[in-house]
Parts: sequence; C-alpha cells; structure tokens
Amino acid sequence: MITRVLALAALVSRPLAIQAFNPTLSFASSPFQTAVRMSSTSTEMKKRVLVPIAEDSEEIETSCITDVLTRFGAEVVVASVMPDNLVCKMSRGLKVCADVHIEEAANEDWDLISLPGGMPGAEHLRNCSTLIQMLKKQQQAGKPYGAVCASPAVVLQTHGLITAPGATCYPAPPFRATMDSPTDESVSVQDNVVTSQGPGTSLLFALALGEKLYGKEAADKIAAELLVSRT
Ligand SMILES: *[C@@H]1O[C@H](CO)[C@@H](O)[C@H](O)[C@H]1NC(C)=O
Repeated sequence: MITRVLALAALVSRPLAIQAFNPTLSFASSPFQTAVRMSSTSTEMKKRVLVPIAEDSEEIETSCITDVLTRFGAEVVVASVMPDNLVCKMSRGLKVCADVHIEEAANEDWDLISLPGGMPGAEHLRNCSTLIQMLKKQQQAGKPYGAVCASPAVVLQTHGLITAPGATCYPAPPFRATMDSPTDESVSVQDNVVTSQGPGTSLLFALALGEKLYGKEAADKIAAELLVSRT
C-alpha cells in the first residue's frame, strides 16, 4: 500500500512540472515515461544512469552512487529487480523506493549501469535475467558498467561480465576466490568495467564512475565538494 501511495505521488507531481514547460504534452502512463520526457524536453544532453536495487542491497553503496552521479549532472534512475515491490528494505533496514521496475527500464539506453552490493541483495541482482541481458547489451555496446562489494563477484563474474584479471570486490575469501587475480585497490577501472571493494570505498567508486562519464576535471571538482581526497 505504501508503494502504491508513493508511486501515485510521483505520478501526480511530475506531469505538473512537464506541463509548465510544454503544455501540449499529454499525461504519461507511468512515472518512468514521464521522467524520460522530462529529460528529452528540458535537459537534452543529460547522461542517464541506471542503479538496480533489490531487497538487502547495501544502502551506503546505493546512495553513494545515486548522490554522486546526480552531483555530476546525470539523470539517475533507481530500478527495483523485485517482481512485486518498488520499496526495497536495504541490508541495514533503510527503505528505499525505486523510481521504476527493471522491466520498465529494459528497453532504454543507459550511459552507465552501476550495481550496489549487499547480501543477499547481490544474489537478487544476479538472478534477474532482465538485468543480466541489459548488462550484456551494455558490454557489447562498449558502454560502462560498474559493481561494488559482493556484486563484482556475485553478479559480474558469474555472468562473464569481467573479461580481464585485476578487478576488485569485497575482500572476503568466498568472493575473492571466484575472481581472476583480484586487486587490493579500492577501485579498479578496466576499460568500461569499474569495480570497488565495499561501503567505505563507495564514494571513490562513484567518483570513478563520474570520471568515466564526465572526465577528470569534473571528478576533481565533485571530490572537492564532497571533501573526498583521491590521492
Ligand atoms: C537465486 O537463484 C538461486 C538458484 O535458483 C536460488 O537458489 C537462490 O535462492 C536465489 N537467490 C535469491 C536471493 O533469490
């Protein structure tokens, strides 16, 4: 019920904003379609970032990605992979309401797809065939994707989405054992695949994702704003 109320609130509030700058647009049938139209009318060049979440995703990691990429200027869309709910209870109890269900995001183009970790949140992500197809499409298109904590091992490695040695993940033996020569760095950037270790490295992870999309100068500026030292 809470989910419905929140979704309804999103439906009610967003079309008003659209009408203000384009009265000819009709009401969209879902919050997601509305968000797409907003970006195409008001912010043509915005890069689009998808953050899939599940029950028991890690909330620090989730919000580091969404917060930091938003600061860079991206349009960030959070998508639930849970079949029946947009509201996901995170690994330490925080409830996060996704913008859309993953099926609504599946046929869109994303400049970046970035996965939080957390267990068994990462298993839900791994088990979502729609998300895995999207990540494979991202890989084939030569576009960036990222994962932190459990997700590099549980999601990316499991599905052949890490193609070179030297990625990283949460430094627990069961995760590391599945990886090919994992690095001890906080963040690993290998072409289009960005991986990181866990909650404490998530700001650096998100800054590396931002750098991938917007360049080093922009990343240095956002790092200074966040009081994060990257040296
Ligand atoms: C993921 O799928 C496997 C295999 O079907 C199953 O054993 C496991 O419980 C699933 N994990 C979650 C978190 O749903």
